[in-house]
Amino acid sequence: MCGIIGFVGLRQARPILIDGLRRLEYRGYDSAGLATLSEGRLLVHRRVGRVSELASAVPADLAGATGIAHTRWATHGGVTQANAHPHTDSLGRIAVVHNGIVENMAALKARLVAEGAVFRSETDSEVIAHLIAHFYDGFGPLGDSIMPDVAGDPVAAVRTAMARVRGTWGVAVVFADQPDIIVAARNGSPLVVGLGEGETFLASDSHALTPYTRRVVYLQDRELALLSREGVQTFLLDGGEANPTVHELEEEWGDSEKGDFPNFMLKEIHDQPDALRQCLGGRILAEEGTAKLGGLDLSPRRVMEVSRVGFIGCGTAYHACMVGAAAVEQLARVPATAEIASEYRYRNPVIDPRSLHFAVSQSGETADTLGATREIELKGGEIMGIVNVVGSSIARTCGKGVYIHSGPEMAVASTKAFTNMIAAMYLFALQMGRTRALSPSQGREFAEALRAVPDLVERYLKDPGPIDAAVTAVIKAKNVLFLGRGVSAAVAAEGALKLMEVAYVPCIAYPSGEMKHGPIALLEPGSPVIVIAPDDALKDKTLSNLQESRARGAFIVLITSEGDEYSEMGDVNIVVPRTHELLSPLLTVLPLQLLAYQAGLALGRDIDRPRNLAKSVTVE
Ligand code: AGP
Repeated sequence: MCGIIGFVGLRQARPILIDGLRRLEYRGYDSAGLATLSEGRLLVHRRVGRVSELASAVPADLAGATGIAHTRWATHGGVTQANAHPHTDSLGRIAVVHNGIVENMAALKARLVAEGAVFRSETDSEVIAHLIAHFYDGFGPLGDSIMPDVAGDPVAAVRTAMARVRGTWGVAVVFADQPDIIVAARNGSPLVVGLGEGETFLASDSHALTPYTRRVVYLQDRELALLSREGVQTFLLDGGEANPTVHELEEEWGDSEKGDFPNFMLKEIHDQPDALRQCLGGRILAEEGTAKLGGLDLSPRRVMEVSRVGFIGCGTAYHACMVGAAAVEQLARVPATAEIASEYRYRNPVIDPRSLHFAVSQSGETADTLGATREIELKGGEIMGIVNVVGSSIARTCGKGVYIHSGPEMAVASTKAFTNMIAAMYLFALQMGRTRALSPSQGREFAEALRAVPDLVERYLKDPGPIDAAVTAVIKAKNVLFLGRGVSAAVAAEGALKLMEVAYVPCIAYPSGEMKHGPIALLEPGSPVIVIAPDDALKDKTLSNLQESRARGAFIVLITSEGDEYSEMGDVNIVVPRTHELLSPLLTVLPLQLLAYQAGLALGRDIDRPRNLAKSVTVE
């Protein structure tokens, strides 16, 4: 959440900062701002709204070859210009951009105010600017003693200040009297330094750096960095220097342009056939009827020892986990669960050292999923990543794992990452299943079915059926109920999430059997009920729930698979290609993605950047 970009070099900072903010805007887009350094002064510009608003407000010839910038997703304080970053100290000599949360803001602020600091925003981040100024001016922790070692030393001042801040941070700081440096610090909120020729960059996301350099240094938690034109020096927050490791970013990992599509969400829905091919390519061993995920480094012996499997994620990733857990149980006959990361990390989970966990995340930066990852490691459990963004915090924390290879997903609403997460989990379930339970022919049958899915997805997207009729039903509804059983319950949950976040239509999703235990009370004549009932062992049960809804006057949108004799039972009937019943989510989710997209469009929503949301949720 929130994006940071910084630059120190010899050319004008403004275009680099604005371009970087545009690339990071998916992280948060309430407001944006930047500060450059020129002739001993800080030039600060901030605007509410999108980066484009800031770009029009900042003079094209803005001076300064050193600068920091920020795009905000509000946590403390409303969406106002005063709350936009950068924040400065009382005298305007130090500017700070911050991702994360200062948990002890109240105590720090009270002390700083008592010393005369003038606060101009409601944010927690402003505290950091005043605190650094306090130490840069040489005052001691209580304002009474003098710290001559810290006075006038930017790194020492940031280190002394951040050691007193509780919470999470990625911060970048510039000093009016230090024209050629940026000081950065990280604790729980990612920062990466880019090394150029005679210029150095900083970003909260390495993809913002790829137009400029591929040589990067990832800051670790509780590290600081001093950026200058010559490169970077890193330090430990607790004292001493650190050893920066330079990494080479991968070649361009896909197309992040919209092409001929009007927005990213529609493009990414249509990316799915190729994205799935990327994920499955080379990983299915058709002859042996199994799969190989090299990044897991799992021997058959270790696979035999696994006592349980846990898939952990948030939002769409959690829905993918539900499907993954079902696949592992069915194919490998090993107990498997899906866990919501924000709950899991705080419930003091019991970790069996023989169990295997997966942190599932598109961005690889989701704070709750990262927190759960660390909790599992701390308790002696084994955790691997199922992640899209290469080199992200979760990927690096886990060390081992599977990249899902969706390519960049820019729309806030996740689509192609969902299907690729599931595809990666199917591969794992097949590998595990073939070792523990499946015969060669059973393995081959599943492997063949999985390999055929990208073509089926492509075929469906060419002719998606009567989505428009479903859109008409949902856009005027008070609420929409999504029903499904087994793996289709996860698809129902994902369809409801998508329609809520893109179109702002209130939705609830329930396993169909639960409907009569409560949600049925919502049904009135005309209430839309979306029923996901591909041909599987549970379809008859789901169809009974469809009839119960219809008996209360509900308007049924039915999703089935080709050739199902009950395909015409809905008021709107959408048919997807037939596949193995465990694989049906890869097909049945497609009409729900299109439904959300088209409903959002019909209601005039901002499709790629829905209100209040951000692509990467790096706060709890
Ligand atoms: C999906 O459409 C949502 N925007 C959101 O639920 C998302 O899936 C969730 O925040 C998890 O993100 P991650 O996959 O990057 O961890």
